[in-house]
Amino acid sequence: MIDYSNYTLKDEFKKLINELMRKHDFKVTMSGGSDEFHRLYLNYIYSVNKNLKFATVNNALMTCGEGVCGSCQLKLCNGQVIRGCKQQYNPAEVFINIKGDVNI
Ligand code: FES
Repeated sequence: MIDYSNYTLKDEFKKLINELMRKHDFKVTMSGGSDEFHRLYLNYIYSVNKNLKFATVNNALMTCGEGVCGSCQLKLCNGQVIRGCKQQYNPAEVFINIKGDVNI
């Protein structure tokens, strides 16, 4: 298993994000990468703009797709465990590390 704890976004990527955010009045941002990328990206964006809404692709392992097997379980920042195949959730509740400070 790969340890992603020391991974970071490249400075030039952050610079590009900052330029785009200054130029455009984005209300929503979307991550189409891995869960590890969602975590890096959303936490960085959240540190810059706490009012932005988030969307991500769902990378959960789907087996039954019916809410039965539990292979798609996700843990929200409040500790609640949900089934990603059936329940809607705000990606900020899963990937942002600032507990109790998530603007949902
Ligand atoms: S895929 Fe089986 S519970 Fe979600």
